[in-house]
Amino acid sequence: MTDKTDQDRVLIFDTTLRDGEQSPGATMSHDEKLEIAGLLDEMGVDIIEAGFPIASEGDFEAVRDIARNSVNAVICGLARANFADIDRCWEAVKEAAQPRIHTFIGTSPLHRDITALDQEAMLDKIAATVTYARNLCDNIQWSPMDATRTEHDYLCRVVETAIKCGATTINIPDTVGYTAPRESADLIRMLLERVPGADTVVFATHCHNDLGMATANALAAVEAGARQIECTINGLGERAGNTALEEVVMAMRVRNDIMPYRTGIDTTKIMHLSRRVSQVSGFAVQFNKAVVGKNAFLHESGIHQDGVLKNAQTFEIMRPEDIGLTAKNIAMGKHSGRAALRAKLRELGYELGDNQLKDVFVRFKALADRKKEVYDDDLIALMADSAAQAGDEHLQLRRLRVVCGTEGPQEAELTMLVGGEEKFIDATGDGPVDAVFNAVKMLYPHNARLELYQVQAVTEGTDAQATVSVRLSLDGRIFTGQSADTDTVVASAKAYVHALNRLHAGHGRTSNSALMQSAG
Ligand code: KIV
Ligand code: ZN
Repeated sequence: MTDKTDQDRVLIFDTTLRDGEQSPGATMSHDEKLEIAGLLDEMGVDIIEAGFPIASEGDFEAVRDIARNSVNAVICGLARANFADIDRCWEAVKEAAQPRIHTFIGTSPLHRDITALDQEAMLDKIAATVTYARNLCDNIQWSPMDATRTEHDYLCRVVETAIKCGATTINIPDTVGYTAPRESADLIRMLLERVPGADTVVFATHCHNDLGMATANALAAVEAGARQIECTINGLGERAGNTALEEVVMAMRVRNDIMPYRTGIDTTKIMHLSRRVSQVSGFAVQFNKAVVGKNAFLHESGIHQDGVLKNAQTFEIMRPEDIGLTAKNIAMGKHSGRAALRAKLRELGYELGDNQLKDVFVRFKALADRKKEVYDDDLIALMADSAAQAGDEHLQLRRLRVVCGTEGPQEAELTMLVGGEEKFIDATGDGPVDAVFNAVKMLYPHNARLELYQVQAVTEGTDAQATVSVRLSLDGRIFTGQSADTDTVVASAKAYVHALNRLHAGHGRTSNSALMQSAG
């Protein structure tokens, strides 16, 4: 699909919805996946890996609906090296304007061992499955999983086989984040030189971040001739994550002098996507994360602040507006009107209909009453909270009063709607949050385990909102909830209730990791 004459064009393959969603605990609902896919498409991502269709009915439906709604991007689904996976994948992607099947098998000695396939048997399997996939779809990506720990001679043979059988993109995964930049480049160069037919396909690089080198490894692979980078928003992904889309794209843009490559990405959409992915996945972005971290454009030291005021370039290598951060973070307050709110939200990437704006405006006024100045981050948290509290959920928090202090036990008085019926309970606990969670559990008994409880201040100051994330697990399924409030305990209660509403509706996710492991 790439124009081979366009040598400086690097395709961006986003796998936030597949590899990213594989991070333990990251769960996105069907609608959230569709929303993220739409944003990725708008941003100019070339290929969206929308999921792993055989993993579950939910994964299948998400990939199918993303494919149906696709506009510009190629829509890709993942399949192991067997006919059932490939059939299911094709069923899911076939309605896309441009479908792609991505099939893979672990080729390193460790993986050959697990599957009890010797080198020749594995070559036969690759030939059979790639040929089968190519008969369904003319856009086939093939990956030798754990390529960076596969013997070079054998890697050449498997890649040659996949090309001969019709693969159009060859992806070289550093599955366990083991390689380093020079080796990553040498591997791509070696394949391009040695494999017959290498010049007829696109080589892709797919790097994990276990040693913190994913972005550097991906860029080194591009310098050696790879023309597709696989990445995720915020670097979301298994273990330490994947190459971060925002890092590779901005690195190529800022250092175009030494990395003269182009992508089709509209970088001004980066910040909004980063925030949405963080909100819907439940994975907070670390403050000092490159490009999208909260501190990435903050200057603490006096010398830096002074320099930036005189000339931003003294301490900034990119402009905040290049990634869609509004240049001026002007605070809104209780006198701000509906039109100003709409304009501000539009600037932040939220397009609201009249009814939604009405609802958000009420919430905004309530927040502005409690908090003198409402900043961009407050509005973003408020938008996430509005999405979480749709109004028709099984559990709805009505009233909460908490008694806490130096003398325990702490106590929570909670009124909640449970399936439309108002219920009241009084519970104690080891701390106010524990008391509230006990109260919720008494009104909605369940066996889910609390896997994560995380609090983050949205802005500075003692009146700052807190964003709370809660992760529950039940029978191998994960349910996440988030909420924001100026009262941390209220935010905690709402986040817990949000996760329980997802549990009640069955909107959880089974981990894909087990399936991946069986893909030896
Ligand atoms: O990391 C990996 O090897 C993968 C493959 C499925 C491409 O995600
Ligand atoms: Zn991966």
